[in-house]
Amino acid sequence: MRLKYIHGVSAKITYRISHELNELNGITEKLDYLAWLGVDVIWISPFFVSPLTDFGYDIADYRAIDPTFGGLEDFQKLLEKAHTLDIKVMIDLVPCHTSDQHPWFQEARSSRDNPKRDYYIWRDGRDGKEPNNWRSLSGGSSWEFDEPTNQFYLHSFLKTQPDLNWDNPAVRDEMKNVVRFWFDMGVDGMRVDAIWGISKDPEFGDDSPNPDFHGDPEAYGAFIHDHCKMGPHFQEYLHELASVCDEYDDKQIVFEFYPDEKLGDIYQQYHRVMKAHPKASAFFMEYRQDEWHAEHTGQKIENYLRAAGSAKPFFCLGNHDQPRIASRLGTERARALHFLNLLTPGVSVMYYGDEIGMTNGELTAEDIQDNFSPANSVIDSRDLERTPMQWDDTQFAGFSSVQPWLPVHANAIRTNVLTQAMHPDSLLHLHRRLLHLRRNMPVLQRGTLEVINTGNGFVLGIKRELNSERAYIYINFADAPQHFFIPEHTEIIASTRPHRSIIRKNGQLTIPSHCGILLLHKGKWLNSRP
Ligand code: NOJ
Repeated sequence: MRLKYIHGVSAKITYRISHELNELNGITEKLDYLAWLGVDVIWISPFFVSPLTDFGYDIADYRAIDPTFGGLEDFQKLLEKAHTLDIKVMIDLVPCHTSDQHPWFQEARSSRDNPKRDYYIWRDGRDGKEPNNWRSLSGGSSWEFDEPTNQFYLHSFLKTQPDLNWDNPAVRDEMKNVVRFWFDMGVDGMRVDAIWGISKDPEFGDDSPNPDFHGDPEAYGAFIHDHCKMGPHFQEYLHELASVCDEYDDKQIVFEFYPDEKLGDIYQQYHRVMKAHPKASAFFMEYRQDEWHAEHTGQKIENYLRAAGSAKPFFCLGNHDQPRIASRLGTERARALHFLNLLTPGVSVMYYGDEIGMTNGELTAEDIQDNFSPANSVIDSRDLERTPMQWDDTQFAGFSSVQPWLPVHANAIRTNVLTQAMHPDSLLHLHRRLLHLRRNMPVLQRGTLEVINTGNGFVLGIKRELNSERAYIYINFADAPQHFFIPEHTEIIASTRPHRSIIRKNGQLTIPSHCGILLLHKGKWLNSRP
């Protein structure tokens, strides 16, 4: 049997988890683990009927579950158990494209005057070529010629993923009804896929050339995407979609949105998305820049929070489209960044396996499954971050009893949940401690955040404050120990390194390289904790 991964998600911690056949039951089985860890929301990637040319992001029926993943009853059981454990469930909504196997597209392509034709975006060619120069994120032109009706259709991703036409009110209604269908079933929120192209230039003008790009002139990066995305109805359509939340008590929408620095200030772009509706938000994706700099990290966090205003922040460390954080930064730096991410406000999003420090898979060209990987190239393939969850040190790491669809990483022998659960100093236990602290310390849940001057350029200092409680988070970005003054008398509550490696003298702290530390001003929580 062929095994697929599914990723779930997270919470005040977002979490993704992989499991085996009948994936939904696999996730249900692991909900106790997530509850033990302290996760309180999971996000599951698309499990709807799909030919799986893009691992479920090519949907052929928005209201039915692909048998690869299970059935509706399995999902209902998952939902019920998650709610019993106080875990919310978010699912993935893919509103901007369908599969080319979706009955809407099948109808649309059957003739130019089919009523569903306008659900998609069709154009005549220009001088016998594509209607314009827009590029697909999976490579090549965004246009595919459809012989029977002698027109091109638009696909911002694979050609098996035709773009839906959001300028058509019927499409917007269809998608809102899909959201209602899942909300009515008890789903708590939606992660909304790839919204930047929800509105496009109505004139379909060419994208401008990118003067800073020196590679293949046909590549996606060779253009500034000033026409193919964030068109005039961008915020309006996001608002309309998120407004479905108004019909319910407590639902949340999180948009997948990567701001584009070529299109102006990125925090203004975040702001537009996060302000689209009171129940909407957007993931903070700036850790993916791999920049390792104390001051810049502090600025990014503050800028994003300012852009969020009253929207719930979603600080995100990784996902199924980004190389693993431990591979990007190395073990120690990743540990420090996890520490920081778990102590910022709102929802801290993590990707399955990051809590044990899973690294990118070691894959060969033959292993590659992702159709976005050019010519099965391993470099940059998203399969690197999609290898099976490492539960234990057995043959397939406890993920399955047969060869999974991508190879299990050889380091599963030591990097696995079972082994780390037995070691109190492990990354897994660090996550657990911090998740439980967040849950119990109001200052970490609702406190304000301010970046403070530590007097040491290598050390990021953050103050969280709620009424009389103050927590301080320090991260040493340097490769060597650093010292700095702390503003008041505090107690060490948690750190990424053993407490004995932290030296405290005359109001000054010395912490090891890449160490993160959480201090609490003596307050209510310290006096009342068990
Ligand atoms: C973003 C998803 O995260 C990614 O995995 C997918 O390939 C594209 N959107 C297209 O849906």
